[in-house]
Amino acid sequence: MKPLEIFNRWFEEELKLSKAQIPTAVCLSTVGKDNHPNARFVSYKEMIEDSFIITGPLNSRKGTEIGYNDKVSLTFWWTETERQVRIQGMATKLSAQLADKYFKERDRNSQAVSSVCEQGKEIDNLKKLEQKVLEKASKKINIERPANWGGFSIKPIRIEFMEFKKSRFHDRKLYEFENDTWSLKQIQP
Ligand SMILES: Cc1cc2nc3c(=O)[nH]c(=O)nc-3n(C[C@H](O)[C@H](O)[C@H](O)COP(=O)(O)O)c2cc1C
Repeated sequence: MKPLEIFNRWFEEELKLSKAQIPTAVCLSTVGKDNHPNARFVSYKEMIEDSFIITGPLNSRKGTEIGYNDKVSLTFWWTETERQVRIQGMATKLSAQLADKYFKERDRNSQAVSSVCEQGKEIDNLKKLEQKVLEKASKKINIERPANWGGFSIKPIRIEFMEFKKSRFHDRKLYEFENDTWSLKQIQP
């Protein structure tokens, strides 16, 4: 089975069992201009053309870091199936059409937050900002996608699947994409 098929199968198996509020959570790691790795959780959306899709503001820290260095990683830990998936790949910005599609899928409150807030910027009066968000959400008008809101498509070059074992003799399979093909190595626990 191809690695992306394994990913899809594992993800479906976890989703069926998961009791998590956000079972799509994944740790996105980027590298800053100062070479510091930087990680945060985001929501994995779906796979399109063999790439992993994530969304959010493009000009907050993750976006600017991806602008300096497109090499990123995604790390999933799935608690019900006790599996870890580590992905390394290259990120590219989503098209405006795809960004529109994902923005439309967001609930109104999330759209209002994305429209009003400048993610990561310092704020003096959080209450005032919250009020602005509430006002935006309550108006009976369409909330447009802000120009700085979009997402990234991450094309994998390396994927490691780990089945966690209580004995700690974990099963680890490393797939690497080179010369247009995926190679597989079994690696030690
Ligand atoms: C479970 C979970 C899911 C999240 N999903 C997203 C997301 O899809 N997009 C996003 O921009 N931030 C998401 N966040 C917030 C990020 O962790 C982070 O705070 C934010 O993106 C700012 O990161 P940055 O300053 O590195 O850009 C999520 C946080 C959690 C805990």
